[in-house]
Amino acid sequence: MNQQDIEKAAQMILAAREVVVFTGAGVSTESGIPDFRSPDGIWSRYDPEDFTIQRFIASKEARKRNWRLREELIAANYQPNPAHIAIADLERMGKLRCVITQNIDGLHQAAGNSPDRVIEIHGTIKFAKCLECDKRFPITDVLQRIKNGDEDPHCEVCGGLLKAATISFGEAMPQKEMYEAEKASRECDLFIVIGSSLVVYPAAQLPIIAKRSGAKLIIVNFTPTDQDSMADLVLHGKAGEVMSAILEKVREKVS
Ligand code: APR
Repeated sequence: MNQQDIEKAAQMILAAREVVVFTGAGVSTESGIPDFRSPDGIWSRYDPEDFTIQRFIASKEARKRNWRLREELIAANYQPNPAHIAIADLERMGKLRCVITQNIDGLHQAAGNSPDRVIEIHGTIKFAKCLECDKRFPITDVLQRIKNGDEDPHCEVCGGLLKAATISFGEAMPQKEMYEAEKASRECDLFIVIGSSLVVYPAAQLPIIAKRSGAKLIIVNFTPTDQDSMADLVLHGKAGEVMSAILEKVREKVS
């Protein structure tokens, strides 16, 4: 971790009028949640094809595998790590417009970010939704039904298929969340990507929108991303260490 880059990032945050943070699975790996495309990531253990909306609707076996992964994530009761805490500190300092996250784990809210400042563009694992009537149920209630033997749960209101309220491949992006995310990306003057390979669109379009709208772009990621060449500053390292060091430097400068 290069101290000059930490210093530069802190200066860019202090100089910014409005910061947007954009996170991917890499911000949660230090909480114990595997990411998707690293060597030991989720797609090394599960077939992404099983997680398309088409397969979910067509195959009871795929739905059972999908519920098993959700059960694994909920049962582990993961906690926020220093990267989430640092991002919540940015909000506490009054610098953060919002966190746009691809993650479904709810750890930004658990770390202290206000729910209305967390835009979950790939949905959330905290609820299940009916694919017919869109009614929502706490996911713990649905997982309990599965534990009680209902291995393919359907909506109690209309009989439609239930699914975790995440956005699967092939499923439409949430309109309200994407509108808010694109607006924030256009209007901010500093966009910070943390822990994303930036290979999944339309999410990965957001840093490009920010940059094209005149914002400065910082990328904090363990490995190089497709958009490093476009960034004003790239810090390759662990999100927890890098973000904690940056926020410590910011606090030093404002005290
Ligand atoms: N610190 C910094 N970066 C990290 C860390 C860490 N502790 N751990 C992992 N990373 C980096 C990895 O090097 C990788 O480049 O985070 C990135 C995570 O990339 P992906 O696994 O592709 O996750 P993400 O970018 O969030 O994927 C986007 O793809 O499968 C879909 O819906 C899923 O929302 C997800 C989307």
